[in-house]
Amino acid sequence: MSTQKLATQALHAGHDVKQNAGTRAVPIYQTTSYVFNDADHAANLFSLKELGFIYTRLNNPTNQILQDRLAAIEGGVGAVVFASGTGAIATGLLTLLKAGDHIVASSSLYGGTYNLLNVTLPRLGITTTFVDADNPANFGDAVQENTRAFFVESLGNPKLDVLDLEEISKHAKAAKVPFIVDNTVATPALLNPIKHGANIVIHSLTKYIGGQGTSLGGAIIDAGNFDWSNGKFPEFTEPSLGYHGLKYYETLGAASYTFKLILEGLRDFGGALSPTNAFQIIQGLETLSVRIKKHSENALALAKWLAEQDEVAWVNYPGLENNKYKPLADKYLPNGQSGVVTFGAKGGFEAAKAIANETKIFSLLANIGDTKSLIIHPSSTTHQQLNTEQQASAGVTEDLIRLSVGIEDLDDLKNDLKSAFAKIKKTVLT
Ligand SMILES: Cc1ncc(COP(=O)(O)O)c(C=O)c1O
Repeated sequence: MSTQKLATQALHAGHDVKQNAGTRAVPIYQTTSYVFNDADHAANLFSLKELGFIYTRLNNPTNQILQDRLAAIEGGVGAVVFASGTGAIATGLLTLLKAGDHIVASSSLYGGTYNLLNVTLPRLGITTTFVDADNPANFGDAVQENTRAFFVESLGNPKLDVLDLEEISKHAKAAKVPFIVDNTVATPALLNPIKHGANIVIHSLTKYIGGQGTSLGGAIIDAGNFDWSNGKFPEFTEPSLGYHGLKYYETLGAASYTFKLILEGLRDFGGALSPTNAFQIIQGLETLSVRIKKHSENALALAKWLAEQDEVAWVNYPGLENNKYKPLADKYLPNGQSGVVTFGAKGGFEAAKAIANETKIFSLLANIGDTKSLIIHPSSTTHQQLNTEQQASAGVTEDLIRLSVGIEDLDDLKNDLKSAFAKIKKTVLT
C-alpha cells in the first residue's frame, strides 16, 4: 500500500512513465484489440495463465491507468471502469445477483438508481426493500433470507443526507452481504467509504471526478475485504459455467469481484468506457483535490447566504450549523461537504421552476459536479416520474431547487441568484 496522499496519487498512481514511452501525460490507447505474440500467448491470455490485453471491451491500457488510480485513492484492491455511472451500478449488481435475490437500499438514492432498483430489476426477479437510512437499524430489520446486498449513497443526491456508514456496515456484516456505497457526490477526496466498512464503492465519473462536464463514465472499486466463501455466493466458489469452470474465490482471492466484473460483467453486458473518455476523466481526476475544496467552500458560503434571503423558505447543506446531518458531516466529511446545495423557493412549485428558468451563470441542466454552476427543479424534471410519496422519501419537495455550485467567483453566483429572485418577484410572486 502506498503512503502517498490523494493529491499525489490522483496525479501519478497507475502511470508507469517508462513503460509508456516516457509520456508525462497519460496516453490515449485508441485501439479495439491487441496483437498476440503467438497462438500460445493468445491461449494463455484467454485461460488467465498470463494477464494481458485482449480486447478493449474487457480492458485497455488507458482505462487500466484510470482503474489503478481509482483503486489507489479509494483504497481498493482493484477497480473497473464503465461507460457511465449507471453502467457501473447495473453491471455491478447483475454480476453479483440473480433472480430471487434481494437488496436493502436507502430510499434517498439518485432517481435513475431508484428506478433501476424499483422497476427494472424486479422484472428480472431481483427485488429491493427501500429503508429510511437515518436509522441504521432499519437496514438490519429489512434483511430477508435471500438478501444479497446493501446499497446506499454516502451523500444522497439530492436529499444530501449523510449516512452513518459505520453503523450500516455492521448490519451488512451481520447479514453476511456486501455493503455497496455510491460515493459520487462526496468523492474520494472528501470520504473513503472503505475506511468505514464498505466492501464495494461506486462512482459516476461523469460528476466531480471528471469535473469538466465533457465525458460520461463510471467505476466500481473493489475493497477486496468481503468473504465470498461465506455460503451465500456459490457463483464465487463453484466452477463458473460462464468462464471455463473458473473458481473465482479459490483462484483470485481478494480480487475475485474485480475479475468477475471484467470477465463476465464487461464481456456479457458490454458497457466499456471509451479510452478517449478515460483520458478526459483522468485530466479531471488530476485536479480533483483542489476543485472539490473550492466547490465545498463556495457551496457552504452560498448556503449561508441563501438562508438570509427573503425569497428562500429553507436551505439544506450538511455543512450548515443547524443542519440535521451536521454531526455526521463532522465525522464523515470534515474537510468539506461537496458542491450540491438545495433550497426551497417561497411560492412553491411555480416559483422554483421560474427561478431555475431565470439564472444566467447557473445553467439549467440535469447534471452535477461540473466546474460550472448548474441548477435544476427536480420535481418537474429528474423526479417527475415518481409519485409525491416517492419524491418525499427521496427528499424531493415541490419547492426544491438543486444547485450544483461551481468554482466561479462567489459574488457573481450570489448576484445571479439575486437577479433571478428579483425577476420572479415581479412575475410569479405578484
Ligand atoms: C449519485 C449518482 N450515482 C449515479 C449516477 C449515474 O451516473 P451517470 O449519469 O454517469 O450514469 C448519478 C447521476 O446523476 C448520481 O448522481
